[in-house]
Amino acid sequence: MPAPRRCPRWVIEFFSYETPKSVVVRSWVVGATHRAVQLLILAYFIGWVFLHEKAYQVRDTVIESSVVTKVKGIGRYEGRVLDTADYVTPPQGTSVFVVVTKQILTEQQAQGLCPESEAAFRCRSDRDCRGRSPTTGSGLLTGRCVPYNETLRTCEIRGWCPPEVDTVDVPIMLEAENFTLFIKNSIRFPLFGFEKANLPPPGAGGDLGRCRFHPQLQPLCPILRLGDVVRLAGQDFRTLAATGGVLAIKIGWVCDLDRGGERCLPRYSFTRLDGLSRATGYNFRHARYHHCQDGTERRTLTKAFGIRFDVLVYGHAGKFGIVPTLINTVAAFTSIGVGTVLCDIILLNFLKGAEHYKARKFEEVRTWRHPLAAPRRRPAGGWASAPGTSNPPTRAPSPLATSAGHRDGGSRGCPGGRRDVGGTLGSKGVP
Ligand SMILES: *[C@@H]1O[C@H](CO)[C@@H](O)[C@H](O)[C@H]1NC(C)=O
Repeated sequence: MPAPRRCPRWVIEFFSYETPKSVVVRSWVVGATHRAVQLLILAYFIGWVFLHEKAYQVRDTVIESSVVTKVKGIGRYEGRVLDTADYVTPPQGTSVFVVVTKQILTEQQAQGLCPESEAAFRCRSDRDCRGRSPTTGSGLLTGRCVPYNETLRTCEIRGWCPPEVDTVDVPIMLEAENFTLFIKNSIRFPLFGFEKANLPPPGAGGDLGRCRFHPQLQPLCPILRLGDVVRLAGQDFRTLAATGGVLAIKIGWVCDLDRGGERCLPRYSFTRLDGLSRATGYNFRHARYHHCQDGTERRTLTKAFGIRFDVLVYGHAGKFGIVPTLINTVAAFTSIGVGTVLCDIILLNFLKGAEHYKARKFEEVRTWRHPLAAPRRRPAGGWASAPGTSNPPTRAPSPLATSAGHRDGGSRGCPGGRRDVGGTLGSKGVP
């Protein structure tokens, strides 16, 4: 019969229609597994996705925030009394600021020629001062080797003279431990138009100004002692003040707005930010300039060591929304179907009698034709018929042909090419 061979297999498969058929398996193992998996998936969705992750909420992760800081306290440093204007920089009360705890001052510097102060520029003759990179050190090298003191000679520079000597030992301002930091933070969740500040509403906070932040007793107080911040970040104040360092004061606003805005409260936490790098510590230089009476310009150079505080605000807010609720509910119901996949794998591969179940589950069915109908002539050019071939019925359709229906090798022809086994409609046969 030439007709079936002309029709490739993939064409037949492409033009076949698949429809699910329900097979009820009366097996305790599969049945119990199925229910257990369904229960697990359901528990996961209810417990984790909905209750814990609050998947029914619309979430706003864009937090708009503004931070204003103010440091208070009086310190003593090298015979002088310092106030906020002396040791806080920048003075505007930004979210990133430095409390200077140690200073190396180089006063009365003027433009001119002088010997370099760094040990690396030690020299014996002018030759040692040539060919060096001119950008290191405190100024431009003139190429001369000049006496630094009675015993030492160093290269001469042109620049601010005398150059800074930063290897000296200077004290630290220990009073900074008792300074207080006041943080004013207002936030807004634009999606919900929700606004809040870290201060109690006007009229409510009577003791604002006297409270001190404490992680357990006063977790909402916006006034923090610097020593506490350093301690809560796991650092030692004396060490940190000597080397300088960067600390983060994190304010977290994680809000469930379904429970009311009053429950939306800030949470403070503290870490050190520069502790991971090898070059720990924080310092910077700045200078103040003045003119002397003789008209020359002078400056005071300061190398300042201090604790830099970065106030970082993060957070998100959630509120019930119908769209995420629907999407996640549908996802939950769809996922329950995963149990079927698992049970199919067990049923068709690992259970005793898997072959038997396989045979019952997969079944191929041909187009139905009435068993008593006279074999019609195929309409010319009918679908899947091979034009130009004569295909007389080879055998009268019979209900007995049903037994040959299941995925047997003889039924792989074209739908139209093998009309002879047209009665294979399930095991019950054709009425
Ligand atoms: C900080 O204040 C406490 C109590 O007022 C005081 O005992 C302590 O000496 C102060 N620390 C410094 C470094 O001044």
